[in-house]
Amino acid sequence: MTTSIGPDVAHAAALLRAGELVAIPTETVYGLAGHGLREDSLRRIFAVKGRPLTNPLILHFGSVAQLAGYVRMAAVPAAAHQLLAAFSPGPLTLLLPRDPATVPGLVTAGLPDVAVRIPAHPVALDLLQRLDFPLAAPSANPFGYISPTRPAHVLSQLGGRIPYVLDGGPCEAGIESTVVGFGPAGEPVLYRPGVISLEMLQAVVPAARLRTAPETVRPAASPGLLPYHYAPHTPLQLFGPGLAGLPPFAAATTGALTLREPLPGLPAAQQVVLSPGRGDLAEAAHGLYAALHHLDALGLRLLLAERLPATRLGLALNERLEKAAARR
Ligand code: TXA
Ligand code: MG
Repeated sequence: MTTSIGPDVAHAAALLRAGELVAIPTETVYGLAGHGLREDSLRRIFAVKGRPLTNPLILHFGSVAQLAGYVRMAAVPAAAHQLLAAFSPGPLTLLLPRDPATVPGLVTAGLPDVAVRIPAHPVALDLLQRLDFPLAAPSANPFGYISPTRPAHVLSQLGGRIPYVLDGGPCEAGIESTVVGFGPAGEPVLYRPGVISLEMLQAVVPAARLRTAPETVRPAASPGLLPYHYAPHTPLQLFGPGLAGLPPFAAATTGALTLREPLPGLPAAQQVVLSPGRGDLAEAAHGLYAALHHLDALGLRLLLAERLPATRLGLALNERLEKAAARR
């Protein structure tokens, strides 16, 4: 199969209606999208991604109003409505009671809740609003590898396996959406950290909290809960913040990813500084996966990445780095 790439939303919609897969831009990362209600398309997503069927998919919608046919609205906690009002469209995924009459069990891996999200990317919204069905879309990377934030990342990873990449430019936010479920009292529970931090959730619903240990080991659950994820092929080791814990390294075969300043003693061509001089975390998030893709392609033996300041967005970024480093 030849993979073409372009900005043709109508073409993408036609392919998706026919059950084909299309890589789509969102404000977080590129998604590997398919018809969210067709079993053949859903199976194709799992096959192309190499993802186990036990790992559920997010359904993407063009508006909050569209959720009604797929979520049991009467059972949706009040806090979910508040979060939707505050953050949708946006980098927020909510786990809401699935309507089993419309949502295939394959989408949720048999779990009672379905993950739903309204992405804030204009091209994604245009596409979703042309369709009369939701799109199932995991990040458009092979299972366990670094998520794509540019069309070129999708092409290098999934080229030849899907017919079309809908080009929406580089993703603005750069890391995956914040995943939020609801506890026994209807309180928001943070399942996967993202651009929307716990503090931002609490500003809308004060009872929002992190998940507890028993919630962490729940069912087949979040790939977010796997020991490694988001990982480059080159072994990755973390240090810092700053130069604390920097291991000895061979300058010729080592690459580095830092926040504010390059690592002394390494050639500039083997380094990416995420936010030179500024140390801005939003800028770091925007460039994080592109930096990992770039460094991974250099054929080095070791990548060193600096831990980021552990506040808000920094926590979400460190979570991705820890998972990327856990592969070996
Ligand atoms: O930003 C994003 O969320 C991107 C873009 C494409 O929208 N999508 C994405 O999908 O990151 P994926 O499949 O790579 O990650 C989805 C996360 C996983 O941690 C998954 O386990 C969790 O959401 N999830 C999905 N459905 C779930 C469910 N029914 N119950 C619990 N967790 C669920
Ligand atoms: Mg993913």
